[in-house]
Amino acid sequence: MPAPARTVLVTGSAKRLGREIALALARSGWQVAVHYRDSLEDATRTSRECTALSGNSASFRANLGNEAAVRNLLPRVIAHFGHLDAVVNSASTFEHDTPAGFSFAAMDKHMRSNTGAAVLLAQALHQHLAERAKSGEPARGAFVNLLDQKLWNQNPDFFSYTLSKAALEAATTMLALGLAPLVRVVGVAPGLTLTSPMLSAEQFEARHKMALLDQSSTPEDVASTVLFALENQSITGTTLLVDGGQHLIRFERDFSLM
Ligand SMILES: NC(=O)c1ccc[n+]([C@@H]2O[C@H](COP(=O)([O-])OP(=O)(O)OC[C@H]3O[C@@H](n4cnc5c(N)ncnc54)[C@H](OP(=O)(O)O)[C@@H]3O)[C@@H](O)[C@H]2O)c1
Repeated sequence: MPAPARTVLVTGSAKRLGREIALALARSGWQVAVHYRDSLEDATRTSRECTALSGNSASFRANLGNEAAVRNLLPRVIAHFGHLDAVVNSASTFEHDTPAGFSFAAMDKHMRSNTGAAVLLAQALHQHLAERAKSGEPARGAFVNLLDQKLWNQNPDFFSYTLSKAALEAATTMLALGLAPLVRVVGVAPGLTLTSPMLSAEQFEARHKMALLDQSSTPEDVASTVLFALENQSITGTTLLVDGGQHLIRFERDFSLM
């Protein structure tokens, strides 16, 4: 009997970087579970395009700030596809604050969706793979966390976001240690890749060029690195920086606030 198609959940993949990752994985034959929170129409479109590429996809709504919803997500995906091999954690809350304006409310919001949700999803993937292994299947999986070059090039902007990603980077190492050998855990850290409402097209282009290689990451390069992290069976507990070398240049402010 042929092996069932590999299945991956990509969080926050209705649009932007998550969508590019979902499509790149589908192009390589992965069945993609498209996760979204508010972007139902975009998620439906991404899922339809993934189906056209790899034959099967479905979309799943969940607010990653809600523990019950996070705990429910993998069982729903597994019930739909029958199995799950990998998770790409791309969804992210990204709201501005600074040390001077810090509040527990801002910290909670970022830590829940950007850090806590990833840990629970990794835990659930590990449990699913352990159950498959018990029934004699040689089940091994992977979990990729989207990080940010900002962690290696700190400034005080987007303080709670950065704290949550710093915790996620530490969790990447600890999860790799704690969930081996069933789950490999890898970080992928882009530089400035897509623009935000805070930047004009010209401002984005100028900042994207501020890199050792004269160009920060492209969505295609980030997506191909995620694919590499999922498919390379020897990599775990480390982070790949895909940022044209932006982390080696000192920036005093966030790109959107320079
Ligand atoms: N874009 C860049 O240039 C860049 C640079 C460095 C690092 N990164 C990292 O790469 C990843 C993808 O970046 P991006 O720009 O594509 O992200 P984004 O547009 O800021 O967010 C992606 C998705 O996350 C989902 N999301 C946010 N909060 C959520 C919550 N509480 N529950 C469930 N979903 C939630 C939203 O889904 P809905 O729309 O469905 O609500 C959103 O569309 C992020 O982890 C980011 O930190 C990106």
